[in-house]
Amino acid sequence: MKKQKNQFFNLVRVCIILALGTATGVVFAQKGNVVSSYGPINQTQTFEQIKAERMAVKESRAKEHKELLNSRYDLSKKTSADVQMSGGKPIPVGPTARLSGVTWEQLSGMTPDQIKEKGVFPYKPLPFADHAEGGMLFPEMIIKSLPRLIRFDLDFDMPEHILPDPAPAIYLTTRPDLGDVAKGRLITISNYYEIFNGILNPKQLEGLRLLVTQFPQQQFNATEDRRTDRADGMLGVTCFDCHVNGHTNGASHLVGDMRPQEFRHKIETPSLRGVNIQQLFGSQRALKTIEDFTEFEQRAAYFDGDHCMAAKKGVNILERGSQVHFMAEFQAILDFPPASKLDIYGNLDNTKASKSELSGEQLFNGKARCAACHPGPYYTDNSMHNLKAERFYKQEMVNGMMMAHDGPIKTFPLRGIKDSPPYMHDGRCFTLEDIVEYFNLVQQLQLKAEEKKDLVAFMRSL
Ligand code: HEC
Ligand code: HEC
Repeated sequence: MKKQKNQFFNLVRVCIILALGTATGVVFAQKGNVVSSYGPINQTQTFEQIKAERMAVKESRAKEHKELLNSRYDLSKKTSADVQMSGGKPIPVGPTARLSGVTWEQLSGMTPDQIKEKGVFPYKPLPFADHAEGGMLFPEMIIKSLPRLIRFDLDFDMPEHILPDPAPAIYLTTRPDLGDVAKGRLITISNYYEIFNGILNPKQLEGLRLLVTQFPQQQFNATEDRRTDRADGMLGVTCFDCHVNGHTNGASHLVGDMRPQEFRHKIETPSLRGVNIQQLFGSQRALKTIEDFTEFEQRAAYFDGDHCMAAKKGVNILERGSQVHFMAEFQAILDFPPASKLDIYGNLDNTKASKSELSGEQLFNGKARCAACHPGPYYTDNSMHNLKAERFYKQEMVNGMMMAHDGPIKTFPLRGIKDSPPYMHDGRCFTLEDIVEYFNLVQQLQLKAEEKKDLVAFMRSL
């Protein structure tokens, strides 16, 4: 009896707390003070109103972002005359990061605290083109072929010479004898069948069809809250709109996992080459299988990690056994590009490699300690590391993004790395020279100019 009474009072207490909570919630909502994890599901504005609001800030936000990029980087075109990506595009050359009042040598002699105090770290987190707004954003080079990817409210921000090949080469683990099967063609729904029928098995072919088929997404859908004014854009996006030809075109969006908005990282599309040897997927979420990531992309990442929004905008639920697995099977046969100077252990063959490449390899495995996290043959330890770059800069807001901690990030593999600039999860390092400067500071290596050149030469050979 006493127990029942207690339970009754507990129930009353819970009800009072809930009622109070709800009441306060309503009051807050009325004052507009709630910082919500959710997007605005009950849209009360029309498409035209939303579009007008976005257009009103388009120019000023683009200007702000351009100024930030210009202050941090030299955006002029500098490429290598003698080193190309596998598809033939010349690779960009750096370092592109601008220094303010210090030289690279002086920087590498300073402690993290001194660099932070002076505010001179050249590789702070990179904000998205309009960070407060976010969403998927596609480079002009793919929009030229697929105008359905135009966003009326936002233009792509990165210069084209620091992006990968527009139609990258495709190498299949199952048919290495064929070499590049794309041959400069952009694989889409209209040509995938004639190019791949007879080379793939039927399951892989069906998986590829799904990878080039449009499905609704946060900005590309039919609701009033879309960012496309084209009927063909309302059908959604395809996996290969970003992972073009199974590689990447540098398309970007914001990571879905963090709130509030200013803490979300900009993420730049990684290549799908070599996913067969990888064990973690996503720079920060570390999903454990390629199947899980495939399913997660369309259900969650496409809608900023908001399943309510996904339901409203028409999420396409892929069937695990007959669709997700087929898509994963195709992704798992995308090979790294051939590296003619590497032996079967992934080491340089010293009858083929240059003196500079060989010195670079020694540094990579020795003094520079890169191999601690990037061991051969694929140059990844299949783990995550926290590089603690925030030792070098203050936490402050820049163009709608908090310059905060990166946290643990996946060690991306370095095989074929010259094919996929810009580098790091957010693309903050435009070139391999910038990568060397970044790690020279983060690891406090104090490398000499010649050593830096050799490390770059080695990475170009991978
Ligand atoms: C906006 C362009 C975009 C589209 C469209 C897209 N992705 Fe991605 N993809 C990304 C980005 C950016 C990441 C990095 C995610 C992160 O760092 O958390 C990623 C990560 C991945 C990864 C993990 C790769 C790795 O190295 O960890 C896989 C696998 C993947 N995507 C598959 C797909 C599939 C399958 C689809 C279609 C259902 C798809 N993606 C659609 C941009 C895109
Ligand atoms: C403590 C572990 C660790 C060490 C040491 C390390 N790296 Fe990394 N590397 C990482 C992680 C983690 C990332 C991803 C970081 C990010 O995206 O923010 C990365 C990213 C990279 C990338 C960009 C990959 C891509 O696809 O964008 C390159 C290139 C690279 N490292 C080269 C090097 C070189 C060269 C060295 C030595 C001078 C080195 N790393 C030392 C862990 C390490």
